[in-house]
Amino acid sequence: MASTSTAFVPPAPIPGVPGLPLLGNLIAFRRDRLGLTQRAAALGPIARIALGPIAVHILTDADLAREVLVDQAAAFKKSAGLQFLRPLLGDGLLTADAEPHRRHRKLLAPAFAPRRLASYGEVMVEETRAQIARWSPEQRIDLADEMMEMTLAIAGRTLFGVDVRRDADTVARGIDLAMRSMVENLSSPVRLGYRWPLPRHLRMKRAVQLLDAVVYRLIAEGRALGKDRGDVLSMLLIARDEDDGTALSDHQVRDEVMTLLLAGHETTANALTWTWFELGNHPDVVARLAAEVARVVGTRPVTTDDLPALPWTAAVIDEAMRLHPPAYMIGREALREVSLAGHTLPAGAVVAVNIRGIHRRDDYFPAPLAFLPERMLPDARKARPRHHYLPFGAGPRVCIGSHFALMEAQLCLATLIQHARLRPLRSVVAGEPLVTLRPRGGMPTVVERC
Ligand code: HEM
Repeated sequence: MASTSTAFVPPAPIPGVPGLPLLGNLIAFRRDRLGLTQRAAALGPIARIALGPIAVHILTDADLAREVLVDQAAAFKKSAGLQFLRPLLGDGLLTADAEPHRRHRKLLAPAFAPRRLASYGEVMVEETRAQIARWSPEQRIDLADEMMEMTLAIAGRTLFGVDVRRDADTVARGIDLAMRSMVENLSSPVRLGYRWPLPRHLRMKRAVQLLDAVVYRLIAEGRALGKDRGDVLSMLLIARDEDDGTALSDHQVRDEVMTLLLAGHETTANALTWTWFELGNHPDVVARLAAEVARVVGTRPVTTDDLPALPWTAAVIDEAMRLHPPAYMIGREALREVSLAGHTLPAGAVVAVNIRGIHRRDDYFPAPLAFLPERMLPDARKARPRHHYLPFGAGPRVCIGSHFALMEAQLCLATLIQHARLRPLRSVVAGEPLVTLRPRGGMPTVVERC
Protein backbone atom coordinates (compact mmCIF):
# COMPACT_ATOMS: atom_id res chain seq x y z
CA MET A 1 0.00 0.00 0.00
CA ALA A 2 1.30 3.44 -0.93
CA SER A 3 2.31 5.60 2.01
CA THR A 4 0.27 8.78 2.52
CA SER A 5 2.98 10.53 4.55
CA THR A 6 4.33 13.74 2.99
CA ALA A 7 8.07 13.08 3.12
CA PHE A 8 10.27 16.12 2.56
CA VAL A 9 11.41 16.25 -1.06
CA PRO A 10 14.47 18.46 -1.44
CA PRO A 11 14.32 20.85 -4.41
CA ALA A 12 16.30 19.88 -7.49
CA PRO A 13 19.73 21.50 -7.39
CA ILE A 14 20.03 24.91 -9.04
CA PRO A 15 21.02 24.27 -12.65
CA GLY A 16 24.32 25.74 -13.81
CA VAL A 17 25.73 26.75 -17.19
CA PRO A 18 28.54 24.25 -17.89
CA GLY A 19 31.98 25.83 -17.64
CA LEU A 20 35.68 25.08 -17.24
CA PRO A 21 37.42 23.88 -14.09
CA LEU A 22 38.50 26.81 -11.91
CA LEU A 23 37.51 29.46 -14.48
CA GLY A 24 33.87 28.42 -14.65
CA ASN A 25 32.13 30.67 -17.20
CA LEU A 26 34.66 33.50 -17.09
CA ILE A 27 35.70 33.18 -20.72
CA ALA A 28 32.10 33.25 -21.95
CA PHE A 29 31.46 36.16 -19.57
CA ARG A 30 34.32 38.08 -21.11
CA ARG A 31 33.43 37.27 -24.73
CA ASP A 32 29.63 37.28 -24.77
CA ARG A 33 27.89 38.33 -21.58
CA LEU A 34 24.44 38.61 -23.12
CA GLY A 35 24.78 35.14 -24.67
CA LEU A 36 25.89 33.66 -21.33
CA THR A 37 22.95 35.25 -19.54
CA GLN A 38 20.58 33.91 -22.18
CA ARG A 39 21.97 30.41 -21.67
CA ALA A 40 21.37 30.77 -17.94
CA ALA A 41 17.82 32.04 -18.57
CA ALA A 42 17.11 29.00 -20.76
CA LEU A 43 17.87 26.76 -17.75
CA GLY A 44 15.01 28.21 -15.71
CA PRO A 45 13.93 31.01 -13.37
CA ILE A 46 17.06 30.58 -11.25
CA ALA A 47 20.34 29.33 -12.72
CA ARG A 48 23.95 29.56 -11.77
CA ILE A 49 26.97 30.85 -13.62
CA ALA A 50 30.48 30.77 -12.17
CA LEU A 51 32.86 33.71 -12.44
CA GLY A 52 35.94 31.82 -11.28
CA PRO A 53 35.23 30.94 -7.66
CA ILE A 54 32.17 33.20 -7.42
CA ALA A 55 28.76 31.71 -8.14
CA VAL A 56 26.22 34.18 -9.52
CA HIS A 57 22.54 33.20 -9.41
CA ILE A 58 20.80 34.60 -12.47
CA LEU A 59 17.12 35.28 -11.79
CA THR A 60 14.97 35.43 -14.91
CA ASP A 61 11.62 35.52 -13.22
CA ALA A 62 9.32 38.38 -12.18
CA ASP A 63 8.31 36.77 -8.85
CA LEU A 64 11.93 36.15 -7.87
CA ALA A 65 12.80 39.71 -8.90
CA ARG A 66 10.07 40.97 -6.56
CA GLU A 67 11.34 38.68 -3.77
CA VAL A 68 14.88 40.08 -3.99
CA LEU A 69 14.14 43.73 -4.77
CA VAL A 70 11.00 44.26 -2.70
CA ASP A 71 9.82 41.53 -0.30
CA GLN A 72 13.24 40.49 1.01
CA ALA A 73 15.06 43.72 0.14
CA ALA A 74 16.43 44.07 3.67
CA ALA A 75 18.20 40.72 3.35
CA PHE A 76 20.37 41.99 0.49
CA LYS A 77 22.94 44.70 -0.17
CA LYS A 78 24.35 46.03 -3.43
CA SER A 79 26.60 43.45 -5.03
CA ALA A 80 30.37 43.37 -5.23
CA GLY A 81 30.18 44.18 -8.96
CA LEU A 82 28.93 47.67 -8.27
CA GLN A 83 31.57 48.07 -5.57
CA PHE A 84 34.16 48.11 -8.35
CA LEU A 85 32.73 51.54 -9.20
CA ARG A 86 33.31 52.79 -5.66
CA PRO A 87 36.48 54.75 -6.49
CA LEU A 88 34.26 56.77 -8.80
CA LEU A 89 30.92 56.89 -7.02
CA GLY A 90 32.18 56.82 -3.42
CA ASP A 91 29.25 56.73 -1.00
CA GLY A 92 26.66 58.29 -3.30
CA LEU A 93 23.06 57.13 -3.43
CA LEU A 94 23.65 54.29 -5.89
CA THR A 95 26.39 52.58 -3.88
CA ALA A 96 25.44 53.42 -0.29
CA ASP A 97 23.69 50.73 1.76
CA ALA A 98 21.46 50.50 4.84
CA GLU A 99 21.21 53.61 7.05
CA PRO A 100 23.47 55.90 4.96
CA HIS A 101 21.32 54.95 1.95
CA ARG A 102 18.12 55.94 3.78
CA ARG A 103 19.59 59.31 4.74
CA HIS A 104 20.88 60.03 1.22
CA ARG A 105 17.54 59.07 -0.31
CA LYS A 106 15.68 61.40 2.06
CA LEU A 107 18.12 64.19 1.26
CA LEU A 108 17.74 63.86 -2.50
CA ALA A 109 14.02 63.05 -2.69
CA PRO A 110 12.80 66.71 -2.79
CA ALA A 111 14.90 67.30 -5.91
CA PHE A 112 12.85 64.66 -7.73
CA ALA A 113 9.42 65.69 -6.42
CA PRO A 114 6.82 66.24 -9.20
CA ARG A 115 6.70 70.04 -8.79
CA ARG A 116 10.48 70.35 -9.14
CA LEU A 117 10.48 68.04 -12.12
CA ALA A 118 7.89 70.10 -13.97
CA SER A 119 10.26 73.08 -13.82
CA TYR A 120 12.92 71.06 -15.72
CA GLY A 121 10.70 70.45 -18.78
CA GLU A 122 11.53 73.68 -20.58
CA VAL A 123 15.28 73.02 -20.37
CA MET A 124 14.78 69.50 -21.73
CA VAL A 125 12.99 70.85 -24.82
CA GLU A 126 15.48 73.71 -25.29
CA GLU A 127 18.47 71.38 -25.20
CA THR A 128 16.81 68.98 -27.65
CA ARG A 129 16.23 71.87 -30.04
CA ALA A 130 19.85 72.97 -29.55
CA GLN A 131 20.98 69.49 -30.50
CA ILE A 132 18.85 69.46 -33.64
CA ALA A 133 20.19 72.91 -34.58
CA ARG A 134 23.66 71.39 -34.87
CA TRP A 135 22.55 68.98 -37.61
CA SER A 136 22.02 69.54 -41.31
CA PRO A 137 20.00 67.46 -43.80
CA GLU A 138 21.82 64.37 -45.10
CA GLN A 139 24.47 64.70 -42.38
CA ARG A 140 25.79 61.46 -40.94
CA ILE A 141 25.92 61.42 -37.15
CA ASP A 142 26.57 58.90 -34.41
CA LEU A 143 23.21 59.07 -32.70
CA ALA A 144 24.56 57.42 -29.55
CA ASP A 145 27.08 60.26 -29.11
CA GLU A 146 24.50 62.91 -29.94
CA MET A 147 21.99 61.59 -27.41
CA MET A 148 24.74 61.36 -24.80
CA GLU A 149 25.73 64.99 -25.36
CA MET A 150 22.11 66.13 -25.27
CA THR A 151 21.19 64.31 -22.05
CA LEU A 152 24.43 65.50 -20.45
CA ALA A 153 23.53 69.09 -21.31
CA ILE A 154 20.09 68.53 -19.78
CA ALA A 155 21.53 66.95 -16.63
CA GLY A 156 24.04 69.81 -16.36
CA ARG A 157 21.41 72.55 -16.39
CA THR A 158 18.65 70.80 -14.44
CA LEU A 159 20.66 68.94 -11.82
CA PHE A 160 23.67 71.24 -11.43
CA GLY A 161 22.52 74.59 -12.83
CA VAL A 162 25.48 74.90 -15.24
CA ASP A 163 26.36 74.33 -18.86
CA VAL A 164 28.45 71.16 -19.25
CA ARG A 165 28.28 70.76 -23.03
CA ARG A 166 31.96 71.68 -23.31
CA ASP A 167 32.76 68.75 -20.98
CA ALA A 168 30.90 66.17 -23.07
CA ASP A 169 34.04 64.51 -24.48
CA THR A 170 35.78 64.33 -21.10
CA VAL A 171 32.71 62.90 -19.42
CA ALA A 172 32.17 60.34 -22.19
CA ARG A 173 35.81 59.25 -22.01
CA GLY A 174 35.73 59.01 -18.19
CA ILE A 175 32.55 56.92 -18.19
CA ASP A 176 33.86 54.62 -20.89
CA LEU A 177 37.12 53.99 -19.01
CA ALA A 178 35.29 53.36 -15.73
CA MET A 179 32.78 50.93 -17.23
CA ARG A 180 35.45 48.97 -19.05
CA SER A 181 37.59 48.81 -15.92
CA MET A 182 34.63 47.47 -13.94
CA VAL A 183 33.84 44.75 -16.49
CA GLU A 184 37.53 43.79 -16.70
CA ASN A 185 37.58 43.44 -12.92
CA LEU A 186 34.50 41.24 -12.98
CA SER A 187 35.97 39.10 -15.79
CA SER A 188 39.25 38.52 -14.03
CA PRO A 189 39.94 35.24 -12.22
CA VAL A 190 41.96 37.19 -9.66
CA ARG A 191 40.33 39.99 -7.72
CA LEU A 192 42.88 42.41 -6.36
CA GLY A 193 42.36 45.70 -4.59
CA TYR A 194 42.82 48.98 -6.42
CA ARG A 195 46.20 49.40 -4.72
CA TRP A 196 47.65 47.04 -7.33
CA PRO A 197 48.80 49.02 -10.39
CA LEU A 198 47.14 46.75 -12.97
CA PRO A 199 46.15 48.29 -16.34
CA ARG A 200 42.45 47.97 -15.45
CA HIS A 201 43.03 49.75 -12.15
CA LEU A 202 44.97 52.52 -13.85
CA ARG A 203 42.04 52.94 -16.24
CA MET A 204 39.74 53.51 -13.26
CA LYS A 205 42.23 55.95 -11.76
CA ARG A 206 42.29 57.93 -15.01
CA ALA A 207 38.48 57.89 -15.15
CA VAL A 208 38.33 59.29 -11.63
CA GLN A 209 40.83 62.05 -12.52
CA LEU A 210 38.89 63.07 -15.63
CA LEU A 211 35.49 63.09 -13.96
CA ASP A 212 36.68 64.61 -10.69
CA ALA A 213 38.01 67.59 -12.61
CA VAL A 214 34.52 68.21 -14.02
CA VAL A 215 32.63 67.50 -10.80
CA TYR A 216 34.80 69.63 -8.51
CA ARG A 217 34.51 72.50 -10.99
CA LEU A 218 30.71 72.16 -10.92
CA ILE A 219 30.76 72.28 -7.14
CA ALA A 220 33.06 75.32 -7.07
CA GLU A 221 30.80 77.16 -9.54
CA GLY A 222 27.76 76.18 -7.48
CA ARG A 223 29.33 77.43 -4.26
CA ALA A 224 30.36 80.71 -5.90
CA LEU A 225 26.74 81.40 -6.88
CA GLY A 226 25.78 80.52 -3.31
CA LYS A 227 21.96 80.34 -3.36
CA ASP A 228 19.19 77.81 -4.15
CA ARG A 229 18.75 78.09 -7.91
CA GLY A 230 16.23 75.27 -8.10
CA ASP A 231 18.78 72.61 -9.08
CA VAL A 232 19.95 69.59 -7.12
CA LEU A 233 23.49 70.83 -6.59
CA SER A 234 22.47 74.07 -4.92
CA MET A 235 20.06 72.07 -2.78
CA LEU A 236 22.90 69.79 -1.67
CA LEU A 237 25.10 72.77 -0.90
CA ILE A 238 22.56 74.30 1.47
CA ALA A 239 21.40 70.95 2.96
CA ARG A 240 22.00 70.23 6.64
CA ASP A 241 22.47 66.85 8.29
CA GLU A 242 19.23 65.79 10.00
CA ASP A 243 21.07 64.77 13.19
CA ASP A 244 23.76 67.36 13.86
CA GLY A 245 22.78 70.18 11.49
CA THR A 246 26.17 70.27 9.75
CA ALA A 247 26.57 71.01 6.04
CA LEU A 248 27.72 68.28 3.66
CA SER A 249 31.46 68.16 3.11
CA ASP A 250 32.87 68.74 -0.38
CA HIS A 251 33.58 65.03 -0.51
CA GLN A 252 30.00 64.05 0.29
CA VAL A 253 28.66 66.51 -2.27
CA ARG A 254 31.18 65.18 -4.78
CA ASP A 255 29.97 61.57 -4.38
CA GLU A 256 26.34 62.56 -4.83
CA VAL A 257 27.05 64.81 -7.83
CA MET A 258 29.21 62.13 -9.48
CA THR A 259 26.46 59.56 -8.98
CA LEU A 260 23.80 61.81 -10.48
CA LEU A 261 26.08 62.87 -13.32
CA LEU A 262 26.62 59.24 -14.32
CA ALA A 263 23.26 57.68 -13.45
CA GLY A 264 21.38 60.72 -14.67
CA HIS A 265 22.30 60.95 -18.33
CA GLU A 266 23.93 57.82 -19.74
CA THR A 267 20.90 55.57 -19.16
CA THR A 268 18.43 58.02 -20.72
CA ALA A 269 20.74 58.56 -23.69
CA ASN A 270 20.82 54.79 -24.25
CA ALA A 271 17.04 54.58 -23.98
CA LEU A 272 16.61 57.27 -26.64
CA THR A 273 19.25 55.74 -28.92
CA TRP A 274 17.61 52.30 -28.79
CA THR A 275 14.23 53.92 -29.37
CA TRP A 276 15.48 55.43 -32.64
CA PHE A 277 17.02 52.11 -33.60
CA GLU A 278 13.61 50.47 -33.32
CA LEU A 279 11.91 53.38 -35.09
CA GLY A 280 14.37 52.91 -37.95
CA ASN A 281 12.93 49.42 -38.49
CA HIS A 282 9.28 50.46 -37.98
CA PRO A 283 8.12 53.32 -40.25
CA ASP A 284 4.49 52.63 -39.30
CA VAL A 285 5.32 53.42 -35.65
CA VAL A 286 7.10 56.64 -36.73
CA ALA A 287 4.02 57.70 -38.70
CA ARG A 288 1.72 57.18 -35.70
CA LEU A 289 4.17 59.00 -33.43
CA ALA A 290 4.45 61.99 -35.76
CA ALA A 291 0.65 62.09 -36.13
CA GLU A 292 0.11 62.03 -32.36
CA VAL A 293 2.58 64.85 -31.72
CA ALA A 294 1.23 66.93 -34.63
CA ARG A 295 -2.35 66.51 -33.41
CA VAL A 296 -1.65 67.32 -29.74
CA VAL A 297 1.19 69.83 -29.97
CA GLY A 298 1.31 71.14 -33.54
CA THR A 299 4.46 73.17 -34.17
CA ARG A 300 4.77 74.98 -30.84
CA PRO A 301 7.32 73.72 -28.26
CA VAL A 302 6.20 70.60 -26.36
CA THR A 303 5.46 71.15 -22.67
CA THR A 304 5.06 68.83 -19.70
CA ASP A 305 1.30 69.57 -19.80
CA ASP A 306 1.16 67.80 -23.19
CA LEU A 307 2.57 64.54 -21.88
CA PRO A 308 -0.66 62.90 -20.62
CA ALA A 309 -2.09 63.38 -24.12
CA LEU A 310 0.87 61.61 -25.76
CA PRO A 311 0.38 57.93 -24.76
CA TRP A 312 1.84 56.53 -27.98
CA THR A 313 5.04 58.55 -27.47
CA ALA A 314 5.37 57.08 -23.98
CA ALA A 315 4.55 53.56 -25.20
CA VAL A 316 7.25 53.74 -27.90
CA ILE A 317 9.89 54.56 -25.29
CA ASP A 318 8.63 51.94 -22.84
CA GLU A 319 8.64 49.23 -25.49
CA ALA A 320 12.19 50.17 -26.57
CA MET A 321 13.26 49.87 -22.91
CA ARG A 322 11.58 46.48 -22.70
CA LEU A 323 13.71 45.11 -25.50
CA HIS A 324 16.83 47.10 -24.62
CA PRO A 325 16.70 47.98 -20.91
CA PRO A 326 19.61 50.40 -20.27
CA ALA A 327 20.06 48.85 -16.79
CA TYR A 328 19.86 45.27 -18.04
CA MET A 329 20.95 43.50 -14.83
CA ILE A 330 20.71 44.38 -11.13
CA GLY A 331 23.10 42.68 -8.71
CA ARG A 332 22.67 41.97 -5.00
CA GLU A 333 24.53 40.08 -2.29
CA ALA A 334 22.72 38.20 0.52
CA LEU A 335 23.44 39.64 3.97
CA ARG A 336 22.19 36.47 5.64
CA GLU A 337 20.89 33.04 4.66
CA VAL A 338 17.87 33.50 2.40
CA SER A 339 15.26 31.21 0.92
CA LEU A 340 14.60 31.75 -2.77
CA ALA A 341 12.54 29.59 -5.13
CA GLY A 342 12.67 26.77 -2.57
CA HIS A 343 16.46 26.93 -2.35
CA THR A 344 18.50 28.10 0.60
CA LEU A 345 21.24 30.53 -0.37
CA PRO A 346 23.96 31.25 2.19
CA ALA A 347 24.99 34.70 3.41
CA GLY A 348 27.27 36.22 0.79
CA ALA A 349 25.45 34.55 -2.13
CA VAL A 350 25.36 36.75 -5.22
CA VAL A 351 22.16 37.12 -7.23
CA ALA A 352 21.56 39.05 -10.43
CA VAL A 353 18.09 40.08 -11.54
CA ASN A 354 18.13 39.54 -15.30
CA ILE A 355 15.91 42.44 -16.32
CA ARG A 356 16.53 41.99 -20.04
CA GLY A 357 15.74 38.27 -19.78
CA ILE A 358 12.54 38.93 -17.81
CA HIS A 359 11.45 41.50 -20.43
CA ARG A 360 12.01 38.93 -23.17
CA ARG A 361 10.09 35.99 -21.64
CA ASP A 362 7.47 34.74 -24.07
CA ASP A 363 5.03 33.84 -21.29
CA TYR A 364 5.10 37.47 -20.11
CA PHE A 365 5.29 39.13 -23.54
CA PRO A 366 4.03 37.00 -26.46
CA ALA A 367 6.28 37.36 -29.55
CA PRO A 368 8.86 38.86 -27.19
CA LEU A 369 11.33 39.98 -29.84
CA ALA A 370 8.73 41.99 -31.79
CA PHE A 371 8.65 45.76 -31.22
CA LEU A 372 4.97 46.39 -30.42
CA PRO A 373 4.39 49.69 -28.54
CA GLU A 374 0.65 48.89 -28.24
CA ARG A 375 1.48 46.46 -25.44
CA MET A 376 2.72 49.43 -23.40
CA LEU A 377 -0.45 51.51 -23.75
CA PRO A 378 -2.14 52.14 -20.37
CA ASP A 379 -4.88 49.46 -20.59
CA ALA A 380 -2.47 46.74 -21.71
CA ARG A 381 -0.09 47.66 -18.88
CA LYS A 382 -2.82 47.58 -16.26
CA ALA A 383 -3.72 44.03 -17.31
CA ARG A 384 -0.15 42.80 -16.67
CA PRO A 385 1.54 42.03 -13.32
CA ARG A 386 3.75 44.96 -12.40
CA HIS A 387 7.06 43.16 -12.09
CA HIS A 388 7.00 41.72 -15.61
CA TYR A 389 8.40 45.10 -16.64
CA LEU A 390 11.01 46.73 -14.44
CA PRO A 391 13.42 48.96 -16.35
CA PHE A 392 13.87 51.11 -13.24
CA GLY A 393 14.15 48.24 -10.74
CA ALA A 394 11.73 48.02 -7.80
CA GLY A 395 11.51 48.35 -4.02
CA PRO A 396 13.52 50.68 -1.79
CA ARG A 397 16.33 50.97 -4.36
CA VAL A 398 14.04 51.76 -7.31
CA CYS A 399 15.50 54.44 -9.56
CA ILE A 400 15.06 57.84 -7.93
CA GLY A 401 15.23 59.46 -11.37
CA SER A 402 12.57 57.34 -13.13
CA HIS A 403 10.03 60.17 -13.49
CA PHE A 404 12.78 62.57 -14.52
CA ALA A 405 13.99 60.07 -17.14
CA LEU A 406 10.54 59.28 -18.54
CA MET A 407 9.60 62.94 -18.74
CA GLU A 408 12.91 63.73 -20.42
CA ALA A 409 12.67 60.86 -22.90
CA GLN A 410 9.10 61.82 -23.89
CA LEU A 411 9.85 65.53 -24.27
CA CYS A 412 13.00 64.80 -26.27
CA LEU A 413 11.36 62.23 -28.53
CA ALA A 414 8.31 64.43 -29.20
CA THR A 415 10.56 67.40 -29.99
CA LEU A 416 12.80 65.32 -32.25
CA ILE A 417 9.85 63.92 -34.18
CA GLN A 418 8.46 67.44 -34.65
CA HIS A 419 11.64 68.70 -36.26
CA ALA A 420 13.71 65.83 -37.63
CA ARG A 421 13.66 62.44 -39.29
CA LEU A 422 16.56 60.16 -38.38
CA ARG A 423 17.50 56.96 -40.19
CA PRO A 424 19.84 54.59 -38.35
CA LEU A 425 22.04 52.94 -40.96
CA ARG A 426 22.11 49.44 -39.49
CA SER A 427 19.02 47.30 -39.13
CA VAL A 428 20.79 44.92 -36.72
CA VAL A 429 22.80 46.28 -33.80
CA ALA A 430 24.26 44.15 -31.01
CA GLY A 431 24.07 45.33 -27.43
CA GLU A 432 27.31 45.99 -25.57
CA PRO A 433 26.62 45.15 -21.94
CA LEU A 434 28.89 47.27 -19.77
CA VAL A 435 27.37 48.77 -16.64
CA THR A 436 24.57 49.83 -18.97
CA LEU A 437 23.48 48.30 -22.26
CA ARG A 438 24.91 50.36 -25.10
CA PRO A 439 24.70 49.76 -28.85
CA ARG A 440 27.97 48.14 -29.87
CA GLY A 441 29.85 50.43 -32.27
CA GLY A 442 27.48 53.35 -31.66
CA MET A 443 24.46 54.13 -33.85
CA PRO A 444 25.54 55.52 -37.24
CA THR A 445 22.55 57.50 -38.47
CA VAL A 446 21.59 59.79 -41.35
CA VAL A 447 19.67 62.97 -40.61
CA GLU A 448 17.05 62.77 -43.36
CA ARG A 449 15.38 66.04 -42.50
CA CYS A 450 15.76 68.70 -39.82
C1 HEM B 1 16.11 55.52 -18.76
C2 HEM B 1 16.81 55.99 -17.77
C3 HEM B 1 17.13 55.27 -16.50
C4 HEM B 1 17.13 53.91 -16.22
C5 HEM B 1 16.78 52.78 -17.16
C6 HEM B 1 17.54 53.77 -14.84
C7 HEM B 1 17.60 52.56 -14.18
C8 HEM B 1 17.87 52.43 -12.84
C9 HEM B 1 17.77 51.18 -12.10
C10 HEM B 1 17.36 49.83 -12.66
C11 HEM B 1 18.11 51.45 -10.81
C12 HEM B 1 18.10 50.46 -9.65
C13 HEM B 1 19.45 49.83 -9.44
C14 HEM B 1 19.41 48.77 -8.37
O1 HEM B 1 18.37 48.42 -7.83
O2 HEM B 1 20.50 48.25 -8.07
C15 HEM B 1 18.45 52.85 -10.73
C16 HEM B 1 18.86 53.50 -9.60
C17 HEM B 1 19.21 54.82 -9.56
N1 HEM B 1 19.06 55.76 -10.57
FE1 HEM B 1 18.32 55.40 -12.40
N2 HEM B 1 17.79 55.00 -14.31
C18 HEM B 1 17.55 55.95 -15.28
C19 HEM B 1 17.65 57.32 -15.15
C20 HEM B 1 18.07 57.96 -14.03
C21 HEM B 1 18.14 59.39 -13.88
C22 HEM B 1 17.69 60.40 -14.92
C23 HEM B 1 18.69 59.64 -12.65
C24 HEM B 1 18.99 60.94 -11.96
C25 HEM B 1 18.70 62.11 -12.42
C26 HEM B 1 18.94 58.35 -12.04
C27 HEM B 1 19.51 58.16 -10.80
C28 HEM B 1 19.52 56.96 -10.13
C29 HEM B 1 20.02 56.81 -8.76
C30 HEM B 1 20.66 57.92 -7.91
C31 HEM B 1 19.80 55.48 -8.41
C32 HEM B 1 20.10 54.83 -7.06
C33 HEM B 1 18.82 54.88 -6.23
C34 HEM B 1 18.94 54.21 -4.87
O3 HEM B 1 19.69 53.25 -4.74
O4 HEM B 1 18.22 54.65 -3.96
N3 HEM B 1 18.55 57.36 -12.89
N4 HEM B 1 18.28 53.42 -11.98
